Amino acid sequence: MSNNEEQDKTSKLWGGRFSEATDEFVQRFTASVSFDQRLYQYDIDGSIAHAKMLGKVGVLTADELKQIENGLEAIRTEITNGEFSWSVELEDVHMNIESALTEKIGDVGKKLHTGRSRNDQVATDIRLYVRDEIDMVCELITKVQSALVEIAEKEAATIFPGFTHLQTAQPVTFGHHMLAWFEMLERDYSRFQDCRRRVNQSPLGAAALAGTTFQIDRDYTAELLGFDAPTNNSLDSVSDRDFAIELAAAASLLMTHLSRFSEELVLWTSAQFNFVELPDRFCTGSSIMPQKKNPDVPELIRGKSGRVVGHLVSLLNLMKSQPLAYNKDNQEDKEPLFDLLDTVKDSLFAYSEMVPAVVCNKEAMLAATMKGFATATDLADYLVKKGLPFRDAHDVVGRSVSFAIEQQVDLSELTLEQLQQFSDLVDADVFDVLTLEGSIKARDHKGGTAPSQVQIAAVNAKALLTSR
Ligand code: ARG
Repeated sequence: MSNNEEQDKTSKLWGGRFSEATDEFVQRFTASVSFDQRLYQYDIDGSIAHAKMLGKVGVLTADELKQIENGLEAIRTEITNGEFSWSVELEDVHMNIESALTEKIGDVGKKLHTGRSRNDQVATDIRLYVRDEIDMVCELITKVQSALVEIAEKEAATIFPGFTHLQTAQPVTFGHHMLAWFEMLERDYSRFQDCRRRVNQSPLGAAALAGTTFQIDRDYTAELLGFDAPTNNSLDSVSDRDFAIELAAAASLLMTHLSRFSEELVLWTSAQFNFVELPDRFCTGSSIMPQKKNPDVPELIRGKSGRVVGHLVSLLNLMKSQPLAYNKDNQEDKEPLFDLLDTVKDSLFAYSEMVPAVVCNKEAMLAATMKGFATATDLADYLVKKGLPFRDAHDVVGRSVSFAIEQQVDLSELTLEQLQQFSDLVDADVFDVLTLEGSIKARDHKGGTAPSQVQIAAVNAKALLTSR
């Protein structure tokens, strides 16, 4: 064995039982330090909590604990300042930090890993990371929701075409439409909160898979790290990543919502719809067509929703064939997890900036609502209230609409005599329901689009946000 190989073999923290150095390819292939180094804060927090616990139960002396803590804090500062040199030979964030600790404080550093394994260590790191990320995601969701409520209050009576099949269906208010997005985000928020409860359990102490022979205090480390409680089963603790999958599922739904919203923004900002305008700073131009102002940000969010859903599928597949307990497969959880959370946060941030800056073009909204016989259902309801069975009313209105199309006018522009050709139940009061204002005002019940209801819903929504 050459000197170099001897050195490489022994430089590994687990090198003791090996007789040759790791293949260079295997080293690169199995290393995770290039991406898991971003967990360093959590790794150090976890190590300090573990060391404190070892001190409490008498495995470390007070002086040893102090040295380990100081050493880890010094390493934290080095990493934060970009002065730490990461090494692929040391495989991952955990062994890089542990090895730097021993280099810094000597043999005492080697005691840190007592009663612990990288398996419970990495499970702890990821849970701490995911918990923080959930909190950031939830804060951003709340920001977008607040912006939606602001618009809803301002545009509670603004007439807007309600669509089904992307065809004008019935008039609604723009405020009501904005509050629909609020509701979707509200469910997203609660899904993340729900997931957080299952994330916030401490796997530390599970060690490699079976626990440890030391009399550790898992309640203490859980408490130090802000976990609700220690997990119940050591095998489960180091092996399952269901909390990450759940998070990815919540993120996928959120991105699906943002993607749908983006689709609307793309349509609405087109010359054909022209309902809203996005601020210039959120759009880009074309290198060849000087007139263009493209809604790139919503388009990208719509596009990026795909990668988040992809990460959910990756994580599910990563998990599905693993026997208990820890397997190296689990190292593959990180890149999808990081990328999906980065994507979700960027997308929400974009929305938190874009939504408050949306400018409504009320005339275009109104004109579009006027075009699609949006009050046809109101006319049918009117006839029903006068005693006509709904199916017959539907037929009367259908024939009225057909006539209006021929005349190239809206239903509200037909004369009383023209309307009476189709039913003698029609009176002069019909025009109250044929106007757009009359139509939206009439939908005056919980969850309806009447401006008064939108105001109530906005007040409730605001109260919900301030109670967080
Ligand atoms: N880098 C590993 C991971 O991300 C850490 C745990 C490694 N454990 C092991 N027994 N090889 O999962």
